Amino acid sequence: TRRWNIVKNINKSNEMIQEAANYLIIGDTVAFPTETVYGLGADATNKNAVAKIFQAKGRPQDNPLIAHVATKEQLLNLVTNVPDYVDRLIETFSPGPITYVLPSNGVCAENVTAGLSTIGVRIPSHPVALALIKACGLPIAAPSANISGKPSPTTADHVWEDLSGRIAGVVDGGPTGVGVESTVIDCTQDIPVILRPGGITLEELEVVVGKVLIDPAFEKGETKEKPKAPGMKYKHYAPEVPMWLIDGDFKHMQQVINNLIADGKSVGVLANRNTLERLSSEEKVYAHSLGESLEDVAANLYDGLRSFKYGEVDIILCETYQEIGIGQAIMNRLKKAASKLIHE
Ligand code: TXA
Ligand code: MG
Repeated sequence: TRRWNIVKNINKSNEMIQEAANYLIIGDTVAFPTETVYGLGADATNKNAVAKIFQAKGRPQDNPLIAHVATKEQLLNLVTNVPDYVDRLIETFSPGPITYVLPSNGVCAENVTAGLSTIGVRIPSHPVALALIKACGLPIAAPSANISGKPSPTTADHVWEDLSGRIAGVVDGGPTGVGVESTVIDCTQDIPVILRPGGITLEELEVVVGKVLIDPAFEKGETKEKPKAPGMKYKHYAPEVPMWLIDGDFKHMQQVINNLIADGKSVGVLANRNTLERLSSEEKVYAHSLGESLEDVAANLYDGLRSFKYGEVDIILCETYQEIGIGQAIMNRLKKAASKLIHE
């Protein structure tokens, strides 16, 4: 597996980007940074290339991939029956962390959509992602570049940990910014439906299109309905060590810690700086700060989940966050990552 380190001034990295693009053109898989998480890319029009993505990740065959493009024109080349409100969404949020689900026109290989008649398309805003897509001139199918079931990768090291030896290369563009994946929005009806909360928030969408629905199946355990984004039904984001979500304030967190310590357990704590400062430090408690704002928590979440290793801690405790703005995506991922929710 090759590794290309992109320097800050991306114009000085043209050769490396073209080298990575050449692997995509010949039908190989290359991981690359987007503004959300790293993606594992392949030529979306080449069925054999796309099959390598499923193979490398161990991804279930019925879970469709997102096609990444560089421009609105390239996006419209892959879909049909585009409602007017999608124009407004694209003008406002693309390039950016939003994926539109629209009827496919069949330009992409059938395994990209896992046999569905619709396709998820997005224009990432990360300069390296855009440069790579332009350099190969192809739509790039790309799920998150992790082994299926693990937390998504927000650094090239995360990708390396999961996929080295299984893919042709990784383009290292440093840590991603947003940290949680794109918002997946079904645009096949008169009113758009959020299938997966993500980088663009419900509140932001409502400003542009008015009414937005939410797929009731996107929260684990909330309903028995089948999620419309097939990927939402699978085990996801799981850290190496079991994680409990701890509702309530720092006092409740402290109580749960004390009980576990009394049981002889060693405990990892994921929380923002404020909470960590209030906890009394104990031996056998390992803290990982998620920063301060909800935006920080989103950016640091997957690295935090990956930071606790088998043998170092017996259990991870993570605090909960308000489900407003980006907090909706954060809590969606945490509920899926957790094995238990402990109410106050
Ligand atoms: O931010 C992101 O979206 C990242 C970066 C790499 O772009 N990609 C990503 O891909 O998160 P992935 O494959 O890990 O998640 C894609 C989600 C899955 O839940 C999948 O089921 C859903 O989008 N999806 C894709 N195509 C769909 C379709 N046609 N209909 C409904 N859901 C779809
Ligand atoms: Mg994923």
